[in-house]
Amino acid sequence: MTNKNIFFIGFMGSGKTTVSAAFGKTYGKQVLELDDEIVARDGRSVRVIFEESGEEYFRDWESRMLREITDGSDTIVSCGGGIVIREQNIRTMKENGFIVLLKASPETTFERVKNEKTRPILNGHMNVEYIEQLMNKRAHAYQEAADVVVETDGKSVEQVVRDVYESIHRAGQSSI
Ligand code: S3P
Repeated sequence: MTNKNIFFIGFMGSGKTTVSAAFGKTYGKQVLELDDEIVARDGRSVRVIFEESGEEYFRDWESRMLREITDGSDTIVSCGGGIVIREQNIRTMKENGFIVLLKASPETTFERVKNEKTRPILNGHMNVEYIEQLMNKRAHAYQEAADVVVETDGKSVEQVVRDVYESIHRAGQSSI
């Protein structure tokens, strides 16, 4: 297994948080949740940051925390779904580790996120059509950033963890 940082990216509900935690546990690696780092430093929830200070303010935090976190190595970083919006973040991740894109269909995504109120981007747009639209809008950026892509539809967390491990190996990142 690689000793580079591993960044999990993907749309909201693609399983980044769950898979990162399981992956870190399986392979004994530290896991950081970028959103949690922002919340800890800012002192407000993501929802309140968006409400009170707006999206750009949140995106500034996101870029800043990403740079701070990537100082070390051998860390699993679970990124927020919007991390690829800024080109600079993609560069930061590419320079400092390996990028795993988790994918899910709009229907699966909807099923995973529909009862949650924590994602300001989906507030008032909690439906498959909007999710698909936003996914399509971001698809190019996700694809451009990804070193490997892992599908999650219909798979258990354990299966996704195995698939991630195998794709990292196939990509030649095998020095543990
Ligand atoms: C966002 C995704 C969220 C969070 C914020 C914005 C996005 O993270 O960073 O609500 O723009 O896709 P998750 O992907 O972990 O839900």
